[in-house]
Amino acid sequence: MRKCNKLMVIKNSANFQLVNCMSKPKVYVTREIPERGLKIIKERFDAEVWPEYAPPPKDVIIQKARDVDALASLLSDKIDAEVFDAAPKLKIVSQIAVGFDNIDVKEATKRGIYVTNTPGVLTETTADFAWTLLMAVARRVVEADKYVHTGQWRVGWHPSMLSGRDVYGATIGIVGAGRIGSAVAKRAKGFNMKILYYDVIPRPELEKKLGAKRADLDTLFRESDFVSVHVPLLKQTYHLINEERLKLMKKTAYLINNSRGPVVDEKALYKALKEGWIAGAALDVFEQEPTPVDNPLLTLDNIVVAPHVSSASHETRSKMAEMVAENLIAFFEGRTPPNLVNPKVLEVRPLSKQF
Ligand code: GLV
Repeated sequence: MRKCNKLMVIKNSANFQLVNCMSKPKVYVTREIPERGLKIIKERFDAEVWPEYAPPPKDVIIQKARDVDALASLLSDKIDAEVFDAAPKLKIVSQIAVGFDNIDVKEATKRGIYVTNTPGVLTETTADFAWTLLMAVARRVVEADKYVHTGQWRVGWHPSMLSGRDVYGATIGIVGAGRIGSAVAKRAKGFNMKILYYDVIPRPELEKKLGAKRADLDTLFRESDFVSVHVPLLKQTYHLINEERLKLMKKTAYLINNSRGPVVDEKALYKALKEGWIAGAALDVFEQEPTPVDNPLLTLDNIVVAPHVSSASHETRSKMAEMVAENLIAFFEGRTPPNLVNPKVLEVRPLSKQF
């Protein structure tokens, strides 16, 4: 049963009469998000939460969407026209992620549905993880860990044991120098690296502060010792890293990707790693997630992998959950949500106070 958060009182000639109970907006939350955000959502909304660890099947999302004013979604939920068709009351999708390629934003905008995300708070955490991947693959940390754990360390020290590549002083090529790419560039400066970046927008602040140089993609791939990818998944970035580009890389170079899996053609990457076109790769994201255990990439030693956890620190995930709540509250209070990704929607459904 819906709880009331506001009583509407109408005055008639004799007395005050309760005539209506304005109900709280209904929100379906597709997973247990961190408590800091969930608590607020539960207090302010009539909320239902999918209780399982695995995502709700699409038909559950469709069925739940039928009767809600808002969805709080994860990047693994496909929120498309099929969901919108089933959801006549849906007004906002508040996503817990900076990326929102799982949501058909164009379709949402057309229907007057607001879409929000959680940028900014995860920038440094995600850049830290790109750096973790880069260091891990260059210095063979995962192999070294297994080496010790499995009892292969039988000689105390040997000059060629698990040699990797130096990070300091090398050249890093950053593909996509937005918030996260720029934060990776800052870290590279601390390692005295030469910084190249590719971006559709020039980034004079990076050039001035860090001495970064803007390069075309081919030059960046040719000259970098580490290529780190930080672009959103768009039609234009699908398989941006393909066979042709991998072939441009140095045999001693490494590819790092913690943006979106489909930006890299995994079949081409497998060939590049297997046939030694490049030295190694580190991926936090895959074309299909979870990646199947028989993904050929997982048979290789020169790759470090993680299960899409770049923003997974306790602090950051809590802040992201809080932002999900803030975006919802702003919308229902009649304010522009702080992280609106489709501002054109304001023309389709002007803001109005709903609680
Ligand atoms: C995670 O991948 C995000 O987009 O926040």
